[in-house]
Amino acid sequence: MMKMIAGGWLLVLHISIFLPSVCRIHAVSYDYSATTECLIEPQRAQYEGGIISNPDFTHGIQGWTVFGQGAVKEGISNDGNRYIVAHSRSQPLDSISQEVRLEKGKLYSFSAWVQINGGRGNVAVVFKMSSGELVRGGQVTARNGCWCLLKGGVFANISSRAEILFESKTTEAEIWVDNVSLQPFTMEQWRSHQDESIDKERLGKVRFEARYANGTAIEGAGFSIKQTKSDFPFGCCMNYHIINSTDYQHWFALRFRHTTFTNEMKWYSTEKIQGQENYTVADAMVSFAQKNSISIRGHNIFWDNPKYQPEWVKNLTSDELRKAAEQRIESVVSRYAGQLIAWDAMNENLHFNFFEDKLGKNATAEYYARAYQLDPDTTMFLNEYNTIEDCRDEKANPFNYMTKLDEILSYPGNQGISAGIGLQGHFGSGQPNLAYMRSSLDILGSTGLPIWLTEVDVGKDPNQVL
Ligand SMILES: *[C@@H]1O[C@H](CO)[C@@H](O)[C@H](O)[C@H]1NC(C)=O
Ligand SMILES: *[C@@H]1O[C@H](CO)[C@@H](O)[C@H](O)[C@H]1NC(C)=O
Ligand SMILES: *[C@@H]1O[C@H](CO)[C@@H](O)[C@H](O)[C@H]1NC(C)=O
Ligand SMILES: *[C@@H]1O[C@H](CO)[C@@H](O)[C@H](O)[C@H]1NC(C)=O
Ligand SMILES: *[C@@H]1O[C@H](CO)[C@@H](O)[C@H](O)[C@H]1NC(C)=O
Ligand SMILES: *[C@@H]1O[C@H](CO)[C@@H](O)[C@H](O)[C@H]1NC(C)=O
Ligand SMILES: *[C@@H]1O[C@H](CO)[C@@H](O)[C@H](O)[C@H]1NC(C)=O
Repeated sequence: MMKMIAGGWLLVLHISIFLPSVCRIHAVSYDYSATTECLIEPQRAQYEGGIISNPDFTHGIQGWTVFGQGAVKEGISNDGNRYIVAHSRSQPLDSISQEVRLEKGKLYSFSAWVQINGGRGNVAVVFKMSSGELVRGGQVTARNGCWCLLKGGVFANISSRAEILFESKTTEAEIWVDNVSLQPFTMEQWRSHQDESIDKERLGKVRFEARYANGTAIEGAGFSIKQTKSDFPFGCCMNYHIINSTDYQHWFALRFRHTTFTNEMKWYSTEKIQGQENYTVADAMVSFAQKNSISIRGHNIFWDNPKYQPEWVKNLTSDELRKAAEQRIESVVSRYAGQLIAWDAMNENLHFNFFEDKLGKNATAEYYARAYQLDPDTTMFLNEYNTIEDCRDEKANPFNYMTKLDEILSYPGNQGISAGIGLQGHFGSGQPNLAYMRSSLDILGSTGLPIWLTEVDVGKDPNQVL
């Protein structure tokens, strides 16, 4: 009998999701310059519309009604495609609607192609429950003359009739809609689709052959395989207490191969007083991580939230800030160049714009370029909250995330940059809405870039044990 221990069984996860391309964004491998175009390819209703009747408006407005004060009419394109137009609107919810029945415990994936005619603004899908409650299920930043994919969904926590509505605060504009789909899934179906994807993307066949040195096969050879390492990056944040606590060190090193420091690399930690940099704590943590083969995500070079600048930075003039920021990026990125697996280069720049306000609208893109020069092999991430957590957040919806990525990566100097999508994942009670989260991941996955959940935590829930 021969025993063979595989040196390491590496499972590689790529979130690969196949989807029609989204308005302004052309899928996969990403020609960043081509992304400001409109959608040209016609897109059928997904799942042939699911439980939506007359999803593509071939039967005019049959099955659809006016919601609110506006009016609806049919639209027909030059090539004969029919769609529906909600016009004469005055309230955000004035639109078209169709009633469906939601069943408790099912997940509903939603999609539709929308345009906004006479402006630019968000269009959201809203489920108005029979209780009157409005549950939002996704949104997209739509515009004139361009069909955009609005993708999202809801989890039905009660059985209820629901009216599907389209909401836009741009009330002076018409909302155009085509190829609507609402597809229900039971939890079992959802799970089995996940398993199918896992089988397809993460499993492979391995054939072992045992032979004598002369090449003859060993009859009846047995194999035993022991997984010694997983390549699924699973980690935890780490703070300065780890430096002096051996209990904390043991606890951490036993469990995690990846880490992000909570605050210790941030500008406000390494340069509390202007000109007095102090990396003692960050260096000690880097050294601990390296000794224990723990990979480090660098967090962060800059943070676009005005509240979280070092105190002395808050009141600098633009020229002073430019100098100080150049010193900061040069210092921290050079110091750890080649030692980190990622940098959150400009944290939360969809929600905030401290640097853009003071240094001009290209500030973020310029710092990605600079970081890339200083540390060309490290993946530069955007890092945002609410993109998968909360579909009501207009600033960080997946569409705006892609647009920001596009802005950064098409900026001169950023060609060839290794970029990543960081999703913080601060889930409140009652979240995540799995159907919405899946849709957001689908949209972001169409870039082909790696997607990481970077700061996952979950709010307190009544059924929580601890
Ligand atoms: C909707 O689907 C039809 C085919 O069923 C297609 O001809 C049409 O262009 C699609 N509409 C949009 C906006 O993609
Ligand atoms: C069901 O979900 C909605 C929307 O997330 C929430 O407002 C409501 O409180 C939930 N109801 C129950 C019974 O959990
Ligand atoms: C190869 O080596 C094995 C083990 O030493 C032996 O049993 C076998 O007969 C050899 N085969 C040939 C073709 O020499
Ligand atoms: C660790 O302990 C040393 C010695 O007691 C102390 O000087 C240092 O400040 C401590 N570091 C941290 C991060 O607590
Ligand atoms: C740098 O920080 C460490 C840890 O907080 C502290 O012990 C040390 O005195 C600081 N060095 C200077 C020069 O301020
Ligand atoms: C910055 O300016 C504000 C008002 O403009 C002032 O209240 C604050 O004290 C100043 N902060 C510093 C650190 O100078
Ligand atoms: C921003 O960058 C673009 C090139 O991508 C350039 O055309 C434009 O002038 C820059 N704007 C400012 C304010 O620097």
